[in-house]
Amino acid sequence: MILVVGGAGYIGSHLVEELVKTSEVIVLDNLSTGHEKAVDPQAIFVKGDLGNERDLKAVFNNYPIKAVMHFAAYSLVGESVTDPLKYYENNVAATLKLLKVMLKYNVKNFIFSSTAATYGIPNVEIINEDSRTQPINPYGQSKLMVENILADFAAAYDLHYVVLRYFNAAGASGSGRIGEMHDPETHLIPIILQHLLGQREQISVFGDDYDTPDGTCIRDYIHVTDLANAHIAALDSLLNAQNKTATYNLGNGQGYSVKEVIDTCEKVTGRKANIIIADRRSGDPARLVASSEKIRQALGWKAERDLEKIIDSAWKWHQSVQ
Ligand code: UFG
Repeated sequence: MILVVGGAGYIGSHLVEELVKTSEVIVLDNLSTGHEKAVDPQAIFVKGDLGNERDLKAVFNNYPIKAVMHFAAYSLVGESVTDPLKYYENNVAATLKLLKVMLKYNVKNFIFSSTAATYGIPNVEIINEDSRTQPINPYGQSKLMVENILADFAAAYDLHYVVLRYFNAAGASGSGRIGEMHDPETHLIPIILQHLLGQREQISVFGDDYDTPDGTCIRDYIHVTDLANAHIAALDSLLNAQNKTATYNLGNGQGYSVKEVIDTCEKVTGRKANIIIADRRSGDPARLVASSEKIRQALGWKAERDLEKIIDSAWKWHQSVQ
């Protein structure tokens, strides 16, 4: 049985929907940002907190867990700057509790959700896993801290792990059952689509004076189901002992500017957006584009869905829940 911590959240619930096809799954989530109805009905759902040893032990005592996938984290960059305690407490301290209980129950396979924010402002065009990691906010710091803890635990306690550094997750499941539903919503693609559905007055483009061809920030958008499939490949690599420790980027390898994303949304939806140019948002690097060559070579995974497919799936989801 696989324990998915944070399996009611956006990325976790998409992973669970894929994982239940081949494995028995138990989800532990405190529903602080997730939604119980997003958890696939084939999975067992337990409401509980990863920072609470009693909740964790109840799960490990009652179910034969062979691996843990950990999605339960706060992930708003801006909030992490104004409230770092919340980030270090949940993303680092609570994760330590989870790892401690895992080791106590001799569960040694761990998949960890990390982020492009570990790289900070990159000093290369295309980021690979050996690129400099120098986070510029507590969110990125908190994830890098856990990455370092995992390396120490692997050496000392024979923990086996895969770290997955996501670039910009977006899109919705092809099932039509789940999609991106943050409150508040801060992510570009859902904001554009909500605007195109008449739920927002306009779109603010955060800065058009970056050192990029059209002046707006460039990101690497990856479909959430592609992310889910990468997790399953990573899990298999631990369970079949192909990997003991590994760190992989997960992206499409292609960057799109904010303006290009808006253009693609207009094309997919056939609607016209009302845009204003606003100030830069603090902590935004001009360009974040991944090389995912390492995981392609090691595990044969690559992103299958391009930006148009990502937006098309998100558009169907947003229309269905409006
Ligand atoms: N943007 C706008 N207007 C908006 C919202 C976003 O112009 O209303 C811009 C942002 O400034 C950025 C781009 O659109 O340039 C993408 O922004 P998102 O908020 O969608 O995503 P981020 O790149 O900021 O964040 C993502 C993840 C974080 C992770 C980060 C790594 O959501 O968890 O990548 O840098 F930390």
